[in-house]
Amino acid sequence: MNYPLSNCPDLCKVALVGLEWDVIDLIESISALKMFGFFDIFPQDPPGLVYLGTDEAWEGVQKKEPFLKIILTFDAPYLRARLFDYYGEASLFTLIAPSAYISSRASVGAGSIIQRGVTIMPHVKLGKSCKINVNATLHHEAVIGNFCTLAPGSSILGRVTIEDEVFVGAGAIIRPRCRIGKGATIGAGAVVVKDVPPGITVVGVPAKELQTKVLV
Ligand SMILES: CC(C)(COP(=O)(O)OP(=O)(O)OC[C@H]1O[C@@H](n2cnc3c(N)ncnc32)[C@H](O)[C@@H]1OP(=O)(O)O)[C@@H](O)C(=O)NCCC(=O)NCCS
Repeated sequence: MNYPLSNCPDLCKVALVGLEWDVIDLIESISALKMFGFFDIFPQDPPGLVYLGTDEAWEGVQKKEPFLKIILTFDAPYLRARLFDYYGEASLFTLIAPSAYISSRASVGAGSIIQRGVTIMPHVKLGKSCKINVNATLHHEAVIGNFCTLAPGSSILGRVTIEDEVFVGAGAIIRPRCRIGKGATIGAGAVVVKDVPPGITVVGVPAKELQTKVLV
């Protein structure tokens, strides 16, 4: 299929929010993209990358570079959710690795990052500013909310529903038709066999709630 690489037609300047090396690596492999620099709360000076300042610097940078696009790189869903409105949907870049497979019957929300080796099957609906990491698989008719992170190798099976701001750990498997509530965390390697309520963390096979220890 002829899926567009991104929402930029030609050479596009992009700036990162946060310094996640998996995203930098992907950008550097795409010749149509030019790395302009990064925003972060901590000044850093890694070779070849320009520090642009904290989030407050964005307004000034945007005035000088009106066509600059932004990529929210953080893994933590709540951080991307917080920054999405600040930078504005229109400024966000949808970054899709050329090696990802996205069915022509699937949809991908604005500002999402789709890494190498990702497979997105027919009738999947992926929300805004999601981060789908290397080799994750989304099976038919899965519905993923906004600001979700799927870590490497995770498998979301058919007709699963994932609400907003969910983090799915590496290699986790969500069984067909399960529903994952808003803000839940699925531990690495977990196998989810039933619905997960909002806000809780589950781990293990089959996945069970991780109880917070109360220190007295
Ligand atoms: C589930 C998770 C969020 C819990 O983190 P945490 O709250 O810091 O938990 P802790 O490391 O303090 O572990 C608490 C308990 O849960 C267990 N545990 C933690 N993660 C587990 C997992 N994935 N599977 C099974 N048990 C797990 C620990 O062994 C510990 O058990 P104990 O109390 O009997 O010693 C985290 O371990 C995890 O799996 N994160 C996903 C990481 C990932 O995939 N990152 C992708 C990066 S690209």
